[in-house]
Amino acid sequence: MRESAAETRIGIIGGGQLGRMMILAGKPLGFHFGVVSASRDDPAVSLADRWFPGALDDAHAIGELVEWSDVTTYEIEHIDVRALVAAEAAGGALAPRPEVLELIQDKLKQKRHLERAGIPIPAILDAPDSYPVVQKIRFGGYDGRGVVVLRADTDDRLPGATYYERCVEIDRELAVIVARSTRGESSVYPVVDMEFDPAASICSRTAIPASVADALAERAQSVALNAVAAIDATGIVAVELFVTTDCEVLVNEIAPRPHNSGHLTIECCETSQFEQHLRAVAGLPLGSVRLLTPGVMLNLLGSAGAVGTPFLPFQTELLAEPGVHLHLYGKSAVRPYRKMGHVTITAAVRDDADRVADRVAQYAVVEGRGERE
Ligand SMILES: Nc1ncnc2c1ncn2[C@@H]1O[C@H](COP(=O)(O)OP(=O)(O)OP(=O)(O)O)[C@@H](O)[C@H]1O
Ligand SMILES: [Mg+2]
Repeated sequence: MRESAAETRIGIIGGGQLGRMMILAGKPLGFHFGVVSASRDDPAVSLADRWFPGALDDAHAIGELVEWSDVTTYEIEHIDVRALVAAEAAGGALAPRPEVLELIQDKLKQKRHLERAGIPIPAILDAPDSYPVVQKIRFGGYDGRGVVVLRADTDDRLPGATYYERCVEIDRELAVIVARSTRGESSVYPVVDMEFDPAASICSRTAIPASVADALAERAQSVALNAVAAIDATGIVAVELFVTTDCEVLVNEIAPRPHNSGHLTIECCETSQFEQHLRAVAGLPLGSVRLLTPGVMLNLLGSAGAVGTPFLPFQTELLAEPGVHLHLYGKSAVRPYRKMGHVTITAAVRDDADRVADRVAQYAVVEGRGERE
């Protein structure tokens, strides 16, 4: 690694909003960024210093990025691991290591690994033995695509490579963002409340601090730290958790990268998950994760029928709300439920942020202006 961050080149595989927000966080520290991404229109590309055109399985583009970069990281987990292994073998530095990605990409392998490490998870089933039961695709799922609850033996099942999990009775969903640096330092953020929108099948709203008792929050943090240690990742790792109606804390899944549930750390914590990720993969000291203010984050999604060029009829009204912080991802086309941006609402007490968020959630939906010209 170079003497100072101001000379360090960070490679990011994937050009979406997570990469974009990494760049926004890393520029003040002086980092240079290269991005592998298929389209010039992708959210991270216009902010990057170098664009390496290529898809997530383009071994040539990935090889060039890794060679250009001092350290290469990811903003998405659906990357061809063989390309990463080859780039590492050619002398590149990757954080986290390709093995971590390989483990995470296969949800069944991930779950079995956690189970063996003694991390509490919903029971994995070889075949449904009672209903309801949850069926999940092993590879490539996101935003709830690839997860179904089967209520009876006759229900439609997902095709392809899948597995089954015991359907647990969820009281609430939490997320814990953990950072582990290449120097072996680790830190854990305050616990986040996650709300899941069944219509959009997407995590629609998060809030910090989670409205749980201190003892439960500490248990969630300790389960998350153990889960992250079990997969030996570096950088930010997000751990999605269920609190069951029996007050058990179970790991749902792990993402080895900055995560939607951590967006509110930009305003609410001393060091954002994006800056922390960069510090961690560049081998710099981790920053403080102290909570600065309560906050609520809402995803700005495309409306149910939105297509074409996005427009935000609510922008003026939104920016007049107290404590509002708007983040748009610069996507050139909107689709139903596509994540177009997010808004974080801060307030001195969480109840006040919740009240503003309830109001904003009624109108902050991204529309489309028909087909793109
Ligand atoms: N075993 C389970 N029992 C009950 N509900 C579950 C179970 N597994 C998943 N769910 C529900 O389905 C949601 C999506 O599951 P999961 O996180 O595995 O999918 P995903 O496609 O990775 O979603 P995302 O990208 O939004 O995280 C969970 O947030 C939870 O509400
Ligand atoms: Mg999930």
